[in-house]
Amino acid sequence: MGGRGHMGWFLFCCCSSSLLFFVASSSSVSPRRNLPIIAFEDGYTPLFGDHNLAIHRDGKSVHLSLDERTGSGFVSHDLYLHGYFSASIKLPADYTAGVVVAFYMSNGDMFQNNHDEIDFEFLGNIRGKDWRIQTNVYGNGSTSIGREERYGLWFDPAEDFHQYSILWTDSKIIFYVDDVPIREVKRTESMGGDFPSKPMTLYATIWDASDWATNGGKYRVNYKYAPYVAEFSDLVLHGCAVDPIEHVAKCDSALGSEEVPSGVTQVQITKMRNFRLRHMTYSYCYDTVRYKVPPPECVISHQEAERLRKFDPITFGNGRRHRGKRHHHSSRGSQEEITASSF
Ligand SMILES: *[C@@H]1O[C@H](CO)[C@@H](O)[C@H](O)[C@H]1NC(C)=O
Repeated sequence: MGGRGHMGWFLFCCCSSSLLFFVASSSSVSPRRNLPIIAFEDGYTPLFGDHNLAIHRDGKSVHLSLDERTGSGFVSHDLYLHGYFSASIKLPADYTAGVVVAFYMSNGDMFQNNHDEIDFEFLGNIRGKDWRIQTNVYGNGSTSIGREERYGLWFDPAEDFHQYSILWTDSKIIFYVDDVPIREVKRTESMGGDFPSKPMTLYATIWDASDWATNGGKYRVNYKYAPYVAEFSDLVLHGCAVDPIEHVAKCDSALGSEEVPSGVTQVQITKMRNFRLRHMTYSYCYDTVRYKVPPPECVISHQEAERLRKFDPITFGNGRRHRGKRHHHSSRGSQEEITASSF
């Protein structure tokens, strides 16, 4: 299990340029800097929602909207095995209950029973309450073990653009908000196949999650406020694209060399710790209702347990973000609602 190439993937590397940059990122600057921002049409294709996806005149920014007819979304042309994926996103403002914006990687359309997934999900809220962010990881169909974490933010994500990024290597996944790493998922032996290890495409979507994002339909999407518009710019796809035809396997060894990012720096570790102390409101590791025994990778801190206990029990969405023709998603998990307390 694990290891490179165990799936017999044939890789074609297009990440020759500067993953070096990560090594140089000993300052706390965002890793995005210097990475190429490509035109939308060069990297992505509309996924669903037709006219609710609009490409701006610069060819690089898009907006996705949700109205009573449909949500919308886009997807990367290529499949990637590892890399750095990023977007600057400005979320819809005002009343957004029931609305979910997702920025994520998945191969659920290729692997129905053993897909991988790495998620950023933005959960809308009632007026006057902030958006919430949720992160999650699935590997090889580990949908019975959700690894959700949930956080507030230190800014209003509907007021301006902020950068949300996923760094995925064969040993770790790091989620960033601007220059702050907010979560690091280290690949451990005990996680086994639960660590994402097959190529995925990148998605961005907006959709109506009234069915699960509210408590018993109490806070459904209110189309009086539609359209809900999420704006995306500074799209970075800096990964190892998998070419299913070329059958060239190079990427992992390139990534496995000195070009591999060394992970978060000391400065960033401090930032991450502070962020999590202040803003994390839920972690699956402390959800004793779901897990009598925390999943094996969890490192339990009693202080953290104590702190998270202050928040009411929070359940979470179950990934019904997958609108669009290319997804046939089985439901996952059993807890599908955000309780009113999460507002
Ligand atoms: C992934 O799942 C498949 C079937 O569900 C299994 O055969 C395979 O060994 C798993 N891979 C890993 C890395 O656990």
